[in-house]
Amino acid sequence: MASKKEEWKKLRESSAERFGEDSVFGEGSTGARIAIVGEAPGRQEVEQGRPFVGQAGKLLDELLEEAGIDRSKIYITNVVKVRPTKESGGRTSNRPPRAGEIREGLEILESELQLVGPSLLVLMGGVPAKALIKKSFTLSRERGEVLDSGIGIPALATYHPAYLLRQRGEDFEKTRKAVVEDLKTAQKHAGG
Ligand code: URA
Repeated sequence: MASKKEEWKKLRESSAERFGEDSVFGEGSTGARIAIVGEAPGRQEVEQGRPFVGQAGKLLDELLEEAGIDRSKIYITNVVKVRPTKESGGRTSNRPPRAGEIREGLEILESELQLVGPSLLVLMGGVPAKALIKKSFTLSRERGEVLDSGIGIPALATYHPAYLLRQRGEDFEKTRKAVVEDLKTAQKHAGG
């Protein structure tokens, strides 16, 4: 029987076949108790072929450390494996993923998360929360609560670090504190 790691490598290969060589699969411990799920990779993630390594990823690292979560012990991935881009004035920039891209991403994501089998999903921002908890999910009302996800693994959603990067002054501090608090709740729930 193939080991979990071998099955994970096969899934990563099938994701690359389906979504292309520029797609970014998840990474981390395949025995993780916590899996972080973001929205989609950005430019730096595509360049390095790893999730959450750009500016938002660096902030995520700080937040995880503050909450006492070791990045090497968790699993990190995204709903959408391909960077959603738009062109304007000769420039390429990020755009929110479309419903179809989210639907397609979920097909691989579900197998990926079932294989890792964490005890809790931490959903960064509205896109994964709406895709995995419920369409009507709102961060302002339901962040930090452990809820059922549609794939049988409990999930807690919090603000995305990219959203945090757009806050200034007191708003930044308040939101940052909320995210750290949510990550601590996740760690406690996951038995860490
Ligand atoms: N934002 C995400 O949602 N995921 C990444 O991997 C990077 C930025």
